[in-house]
Amino acid sequence: MTAPALSRPGVLTGPEPIVGSGHVVGVSPRLVAPAPVWQLRTDVLLVGSGVAALTLAAELAGSGLRVHLVTKGELGDGSTRWAQGGIARANTGPGFSTGSVAATDTPEDVERHVSDTLTAGAGLGDPRTVRQLATDGPGAVRRLADLGARFDLDADGRPALTREGGHSHARIVHAGGDATGAEVQRALQARLHTSLEADEITVAENAFLLDLLRGPDGAVRGAVVALLDATGSCRSVGIVHARATVLATGGLGQVFATTTNPAAVTGDGIAAALRAGAELADLEFVQFHPTVFAGAGPTDDGRHLLISEAVRGEGARIIDAGGVLVMAGAHPLADLAPRDVVSATMASAMAERGVRHLYLDARHLGEPVLDARFPTILARCRENGVDPLTQPIPVRPAAHYTCGGVRADLTGRTSLPGLFAIGEVACTGVHGANRLASNSLLEGLVAAHRLAGFLRGGGLPGSAARGRVTAPRDRAAGVLPGVRAGLALAMEDTAGVLRDPAGLDLLVRRLGEVPLADASEALPGRASWEATNLHTLMAAIAQAAVTRAESRGCHRRTDVDGVRSGWRRHLVATLADDGTGPATVRQEARP
Ligand code: SIN
Repeated sequence: MTAPALSRPGVLTGPEPIVGSGHVVGVSPRLVAPAPVWQLRTDVLLVGSGVAALTLAAELAGSGLRVHLVTKGELGDGSTRWAQGGIARANTGPGFSTGSVAATDTPEDVERHVSDTLTAGAGLGDPRTVRQLATDGPGAVRRLADLGARFDLDADGRPALTREGGHSHARIVHAGGDATGAEVQRALQARLHTSLEADEITVAENAFLLDLLRGPDGAVRGAVVALLDATGSCRSVGIVHARATVLATGGLGQVFATTTNPAAVTGDGIAAALRAGAELADLEFVQFHPTVFAGAGPTDDGRHLLISEAVRGEGARIIDAGGVLVMAGAHPLADLAPRDVVSATMASAMAERGVRHLYLDARHLGEPVLDARFPTILARCRENGVDPLTQPIPVRPAAHYTCGGVRADLTGRTSLPGLFAIGEVACTGVHGANRLASNSLLEGLVAAHRLAGFLRGGGLPGSAARGRVTAPRDRAAGVLPGVRAGLALAMEDTAGVLRDPAGLDLLVRRLGEVPLADASEALPGRASWEATNLHTLMAAIAQAAVTRAESRGCHRRTDVDGVRSGWRRHLVATLADDGTGPATVRQEARP
């Protein structure tokens, strides 16, 4: 079939002429699926089951609002439970449950958290939103502790704090040493089960978000959802009518062949929002974590093992095979430089030496520190034949976090009425061109809290008129799952930490050559829907990466050293109004 175009060159306005790739990538206007055979009504349709989704569920419990949560796999299949480092929050009080923020606040630290976040964001962070995040942070962590999350404490019973790249001092709380995400997920899932028993919420696992529904006024009124069997095949399709539809679906790490994100992280919410006409922003900024274990392939659930930045926070250093300190002289903070600096320095060092990985030397930390602070990492490395006590750990940068996403404010409001986005799926201006370590769980907590307050406080959109919603597009198309792995490798090779225009041009051309199968060829089911969503997002990332002809934040363009004047701008992507025409990519200057 002839595909609509995601983007075309020449529609950009900016400080200087902008040249896109010259190629057009067609994307699916709607996922291939059988006709809906059931429907249900709710006040809030919540898609996802990580920190943002479960925090919102907890905060809406008892509000009287009907909440229906859908997640495409099992609860907790997403990234949250694999987060290691912790949660950054300003040091405003002595503990989690004592004192109020107002009584114990140390404004200097809020300001330092703001300043570190904006510095990491490389000129594209939004100071107002970052200040909201930093100000709300201590309360968000305290509420999580009140819900039952158990954080590591120091000898005096205060939260034990660590430091990661880009932080001017230790402000990161953690749990289980290096298992913060697992504890956050556990505590929030326990709370969800209480809500389920109290009939405060309904939950559907194995329920895949296909497309968003828009009413005649343009507002999002719910979604088309497919119920899956255990193999991921489609059992039935239905319509969920909702007054508020909340995307908390996480990022898109599986766009790249090597990622710390589990297999479920395929950007479904971002792709659905694009198809529905929502604005996406800053998609070119995918964060590559510097130290991902290079001594083994992916785990059964598609992740590569993360070696937390907190290991460097405790004193580990990146070395090459000859023991040379790679970060010495590269940045005043050396191994604790912001993540983009470390990843780019490592990528250049690997290219110069013609090697596929470097090493993280943690031997001098000794058994007591490694055992107490990093029990998971120690165990997983040993399982894979590397003992960090006696051997340097082979590491390389790999895709880790989606800085861009569905354009939203920190209360989750997107460019479409009725559609909200919280957590990694959203681009709120908090992370700019590069996220500060351990700000991601924090953003999920803060955005969910703010959105819960908004919905409870009268922000819930009006009732959807019965039967008046329509499926967003009339043409459906899909990418066959077989092409996915090759495209993910191509993304890694050309749209990784180091990027050059010729490689990106070839990538866009290759993505444009991917055939879109119509409803007669594409088998409806999780595999083809995920492949289709990934292809859509690969195209959006590649086009934005071609357009951003400068080295800012997460990436380095080999043809441009550093940032370019006039480029302190966001790239915003949308599909055309009718959903079938060419998309536009426009620039917006940072206010
Ligand atoms: C890490 O532990 O290094 C990851 C933390 C983060 O991505 O914020």
